[in-house]
Amino acid sequence: MSQHLALLGGRPVRERPFTSWPIFGEPEEARVLAALRSGRWGRLDGNEVNEFEKRFAAMHGCQHGIAIVNGTVSLRLGLIAAGLEAESEVIVPPYTFFSTASAVVEANMVPVFADIDLNTFNLDPKAMEAAITPRTRAVIPVHFAGQPADMDAIMAIARKHKLLVIEDAAHAHGASYKNRPAGSLADMASFSFQSSKNLTCGEGGLITTNDSQLAASCRSLHNCGRIPTGVWYEHHVISGNYRLGELQGALLNAQLDRLEDQTKTRDRNGQQLAGRLANLPGLHPQLRPDFCTRHAYHLFMLRIDGQKFGAPRAAVVAALRAEGVPCSPGYGFSLHLQPMFRNRAFGPYLAGIKDRLDYEQVQCPKSDVLCREQAVWLEQGIFLGEREDIDDVYRAFEKVYDQRAALVDWSRREGTE
Ligand SMILES: Cc1ncc(COP(=O)(O)O)c(C=O)c1O
Repeated sequence: MSQHLALLGGRPVRERPFTSWPIFGEPEEARVLAALRSGRWGRLDGNEVNEFEKRFAAMHGCQHGIAIVNGTVSLRLGLIAAGLEAESEVIVPPYTFFSTASAVVEANMVPVFADIDLNTFNLDPKAMEAAITPRTRAVIPVHFAGQPADMDAIMAIARKHKLLVIEDAAHAHGASYKNRPAGSLADMASFSFQSSKNLTCGEGGLITTNDSQLAASCRSLHNCGRIPTGVWYEHHVISGNYRLGELQGALLNAQLDRLEDQTKTRDRNGQQLAGRLANLPGLHPQLRPDFCTRHAYHLFMLRIDGQKFGAPRAAVVAALRAEGVPCSPGYGFSLHLQPMFRNRAFGPYLAGIKDRLDYEQVQCPKSDVLCREQAVWLEQGIFLGEREDIDDVYRAFEKVYDQRAALVDWSRREGTE
């Protein structure tokens, strides 16, 4: 194999694609076709969504599962279901997808950003505690990349301050914390089944909870404010139709049969790669505390210290891609620096107080350093393959490290330093 970087005309380490996502076949076809042919396409007509809710809740040791149109709406409905007053403060990490914070605004509440831990990439409980004010009512820890957040610490602080906790488990299907499923560790949890997720039906979401009152409230909110004892055209609270459809339910039922094996494979391969990459100077794979008994590896994430590695992140990402390893630098900036927050473009929400909210003053330096300089993401499909796939990924990193001097020259020429 040529030792020249593929970026500079050498032969790539990897010339075959990695496992593509989603994975589907005869079971999905059969189940979706049966749902199609039944003519019962809405959740009120059929039993697919019902069945999926029960299976998914049971898998989490939860009494209730409420399927919702997507994982953004499920976060929002969770906050509303808890009956928190308008303009309550809700603590969220700055290193996460838009929805973790936008759902708070769309519930007419105020996201307050608390920084992450630079090694686990998850909400830092100390930063969370420091962000609590007399107006704080809830916290949304994210199990980022599929690794559970420090839930014992977060729950202890939350209980002390009487805060509601909603896990954002959009990345964490199948992950576990001290052998308990992510999604069963707080008052409620929100999942996403959007296309890229480890369990998908294209678009979908779900709330798990063991609290019957919260469950009843979520169920009502997802169904136009109806209640089980009411007649059909009777609406008790303001809400809309956020029900998931039966074709998506059918797809989820079939995909769920695959999840356990897929999760084991990802976890095994992810751990393999993390152990090996940690030996290269300047590379810091997501630190896995002992409490993480299973990582879902929706993403494999690492931090690259460009100084110690000997080449800047942008060049390393370009070089890895050229070697045939799909990867990216992830979010370009922390969530509080999104134009929506900087410009307070909240639409009709928070109208009375938005002038007092200044997100440009928020300080989350750890999240910022990940976004601006250090984060590298590899997607989950890579980890669904064989051991040889992981060997190829490792070899690509090793080759890029060995050739870092040539990469620095390239990066000077390209101006990517
Ligand atoms: C951390 C996180 N939370 C919430 C969501 C929102 O899920 P959805 O895309 O299903 O609305 C996503 C998904 O993209 C996510 O990554």
